[in-house]
Amino acid sequence: MFYRGRRLRKNETVRRMLRETALTADELILPVFVVEGENIKREIPSMKGVYHWSVDRLDELADEMAAAGIGACLLFGIPAYKDEQGSAAWDENGVVQRAMRRLRRLAPELYIIGDVCLCEYTSHGHCGLLDGCGCVMNDATLPLLAQVAVSYARAGADMVAPSDMMDGHIAALRAALDEAGHTGVAIMGYSAKFASSLDWPFRDAAGSAPAFGDRRGYQMDYANGREALREVQADLDEGADVVMVKPAMAYLDVIHEVSRTFNAPLAAYQVSGEYSMLKAAVEQGILRSEAIWESLLAIKRAGAKLIITYFALDIGRMLNGAD
Ligand code: PBG
Ligand code: ZN
Repeated sequence: MFYRGRRLRKNETVRRMLRETALTADELILPVFVVEGENIKREIPSMKGVYHWSVDRLDELADEMAAAGIGACLLFGIPAYKDEQGSAAWDENGVVQRAMRRLRRLAPELYIIGDVCLCEYTSHGHCGLLDGCGCVMNDATLPLLAQVAVSYARAGADMVAPSDMMDGHIAALRAALDEAGHTGVAIMGYSAKFASSLDWPFRDAAGSAPAFGDRRGYQMDYANGREALREVQADLDEGADVVMVKPAMAYLDVIHEVSRTFNAPLAAYQVSGEYSMLKAAVEQGILRSEAIWESLLAIKRAGAKLIITYFALDIGRMLNGAD
């Protein structure tokens, strides 16, 4: 006698009955890049099928999201000006703040998340304030990030997602939000955020490449898995509502370990490089588009509850039977 696993793979009915992992449109978050200017829907060269949107055209995006059944978005801004501090990030009239106000009016039920970081807004492209030697100062950066979060909350954000990797940032944001009366605004920490080559296409998308050096002084070393647990623990201790692992596909071990260790909602970010690799391979006929579905199911199987992915609209349309 030997194990006969094939009995339970006999036809699609029994395979569906026993499928352990499911994915719904409710669990997907669409990253959105908003730019200054008018009448812009411009494809991002390094991310085919992903666009820069000006605020006045967000009604089209809101319609597409509704048609695909995607109820949540994560906003990134490409500002009108950059300076040493990144002050456009907390400008009440900044591009993200205006986008949030417009989306809130267009789609009252939309779950709006704002990415909190300074790298798109600083002239040097680093995620925080620099000292005289060009090092990112941790504690001096915290009040600026807190200001960004509060300005998002005022503009109607449901959740803020600090991606800066400064120590103590969750506590700083929580205190500032509460102080300003926004106790209902949630925080999703980019808890285990790795200094990865897979976010390279994002630099094109957000114009946020560091002018010198790299992010290894604040983002995690990709050789480290156990350290990720300490980072997640810290974010939860500081009051994070949702924690995140980023990138996703090459970090399934980390996703799995975090999901086993902590009883907290876990998100995974399938980043720009993961998107562009899959997209290019499918476009060139090297892979079938099912590879995209497989990648997302694997991320869920590893233990993520939410997935932030540039494929959200495509997958939502597919699940809706609209494609
Ligand atoms: C900003 C930020 C980045 C990403 C999310 N927030 C870029 C970076 O840290 O260099 C990456 C997203 C992606 O690659 O899709 N700190
Ligand atoms: Zn950043």
